[in-house]
Amino acid sequence: MLKKRSFSILYIVSFSMLLLISILMAFFIPSKKGNAATPVPNDTQIISLFDFPFVSFLPLITNQNLLPSNEYVLLGWNDLGMHCYNRDFRDLAVLPPYNTLWAQVIRRGDPPQIVTNNITVEYSFPNNTYSVGKSNFWTYAQSLFSLPEPLPDNIGLTGKGLSGEMDVNVDHFSADGIPLTEFQDSAPNTPYPYQLAEIIAKDLNTGQELASLTVVAPVSTEMRCDNCHFDGGVENIATGRVETNILTLHDNENADEYPIGHTTPLMDRRPVLCAECHASNALGAPGVSGIPNLSRAMHDKHKEIVPDTQEGCYNCHPGPTTQCLRDVMSTEHNMTCIDCHGGLEEVSQNPNPWLNEPTCSQSGCHTDITQNQVLYRNSTAHDGIYCAACHDSSHAIAPSNQVNDGIKFIQLQDSPGPLSKCTVCHITQPEDVDIHTIQ
Ligand code: HEC
Ligand code: HEC
Ligand code: HEC
Ligand code: HEC
Ligand code: HEC
Ligand code: HEC
Repeated sequence: MLKKRSFSILYIVSFSMLLLISILMAFFIPSKKGNAATPVPNDTQIISLFDFPFVSFLPLITNQNLLPSNEYVLLGWNDLGMHCYNRDFRDLAVLPPYNTLWAQVIRRGDPPQIVTNNITVEYSFPNNTYSVGKSNFWTYAQSLFSLPEPLPDNIGLTGKGLSGEMDVNVDHFSADGIPLTEFQDSAPNTPYPYQLAEIIAKDLNTGQELASLTVVAPVSTEMRCDNCHFDGGVENIATGRVETNILTLHDNENADEYPIGHTTPLMDRRPVLCAECHASNALGAPGVSGIPNLSRAMHDKHKEIVPDTQEGCYNCHPGPTTQCLRDVMSTEHNMTCIDCHGGLEEVSQNPNPWLNEPTCSQSGCHTDITQNQVLYRNSTAHDGIYCAACHDSSHAIAPSNQVNDGIKFIQLQDSPGPLSKCTVCHITQPEDVDIHTIQ
């Protein structure tokens, strides 16, 4: 007993000294914050700590296990490595603002246990609390999605807002369809793709906080259709806006093929949802039969126009500035979109876009590891822990080159990831096994 107490006193003393050193360092060492290569928002303390040259101090300062309540661990991630939406919805919509966070709660122990009962998980975006005014989506949502009522301000298509409670889904929690924009409250005119969510697990009965985590919600409008569809660009069309140039071209090329019930020229019935006619699994939209799905139409049409390179893909996927591919395979092994997805022709042939995607073991890559689901994002290992809980989402596979992606791993353990420290979940260091072999 006595021993334990003197240990904790020692602990507090050394912790305070570390804190003191950190504060002193903050005064004397200029921060590298905000350089061009890794734009970081200036609103989280963790980021400024991260900028210290003595990164090894970090885990001691931010490690969640130092918090008084370490009975639970909260893991969180985004379902996709990037969520794209249109910058302007006046004329057309490819994708609405629609972000999705996932979380798992683990009760620490020997063995640890995944739990969903009697627990709630809340999410919020401390520096991104509203979307109306940052996007005109709410002006056009009812018409675009044929909604019976106007969409309430700052509420997305599934009824979720920018803060709220996640839903329980068997073994995890999720908040689907958060209408997040790429604009922080503190800089509402500067696109910033790596927004930070704060998620908190609480005891359902007492409301007591059990664990928390800072998770990236990636979001971008960087679709550079304007690289080609500018006024006077493709087919010399000049209507004053990129979107209307595209709709005019589409009418010129296809109006005689518009299906029954959809025959009015697109220019005369704006705003137009592409998925009204072209099926899109991203929206669960069945489209009109006989018309190619949106992925096929777009990739097939542009295949000889856009080169089969990462720069080519970045014409429409975010993008030369956003650099949505930021994962360890791109930074350490120079892998590009084409290595995993193939070129535009191959993508256009996908029989089930969005639901049939690359796997980790394809093309003789990680043949020792099998996904137990078709999609990486749905796969689990180590007795039900999502691959993405430890590795993060596709395109951000840890360690990512984005500082924000690393924050949660620093909070959980002593490195930017993947989650490799066994005692984050196990109380006693378990027997040394391959983490993937426990199904
Ligand atoms: C690298 C240049 C380039 C980029 C970038 C580009 N396009 Fe195109 N797009 C073209 C060209 C060229 C055509 C016309 C091809 C033709 O005339 O056969 C075209 C055709 C189209 C068509 C008409 C297809 C048809 O036959 O009806 C649509 C719609 C379209 N693009 C939408 C887009 C959208 C949306 C984006 C951005 C997400 C985009 N394009 C980005 C070059 C580009
Ligand atoms: C009213 C229904 C309708 C809507 C809405 C619509 N399209 Fe189309 N689209 C068509 C039809 C019909 C074709 C011709 C299909 C074919 O050639 O088999 C077509 C062709 C295309 C093609 C060329 C495909 C190819 O391989 O030649 C592209 C690209 C395309 N659409 C993109 C879009 C985009 C982007 C939007 C939203 C801005 C959109 N479409 C909205 C009906 C529609
Ligand atoms: C001309 C614009 C354009 C270019 C260039 C482009 N994409 Fe796309 N891509 C789109 C659009 C639009 C969607 C959304 C389709 C939907 O909503 O279903 C999409 C969706 C996808 C998807 C998800 C749907 C699916 O088919 O599984 C993948 C994967 C994809 N693109 C990969 C690529 C890769 C890899 C490249 C470069 C080799 C590329 N794209 C280049 C416009 C483009
Ligand atoms: C290391 C392999 C890898 C690379 C490199 C890669 N992707 Fe993917 N991509 C995946 C996997 C795996 C998925 C499926 C993820 C899942 O289950 O949701 C995916 C899914 C997608 C999707 C569908 C939406 C989603 O996230 O599930 C799009 C769009 C996409 N990739 C575009 C791209 C583009 C554009 C690039 C290059 C800038 C790229 N990918 C590079 C592996 C890769
Ligand atoms: C409990 C955490 C955890 C889970 C769950 C997990 N992994 Fe891992 N994974 C790790 C760790 C830790 C490593 C070792 C990383 C290192 O050596 O830097 C690793 C390594 C890997 C590697 C690289 C292996 C190699 O050959 O170097 C791949 C690929 C991989 N995991 C895929 C997956 C897939 C796919 C899933 C889901 C089916 C998954 N992992 C689930 C923690 C996890
Ligand atoms: C994200 C939390 C998490 C991490 C990190 C983690 N585990 Fe586990 N581990 C679990 C869970 C959950 C179980 C399943 C317990 C059960 O249901 O029996 C488990 C079970 C095990 C088991 C079998 C049951 C037991 O306790 O003997 C072993 C062995 C094991 N883990 C080893 C490891 C090793 C080694 C590491 C680090 C390389 C590790 N684990 C990291 C959560 C984790």
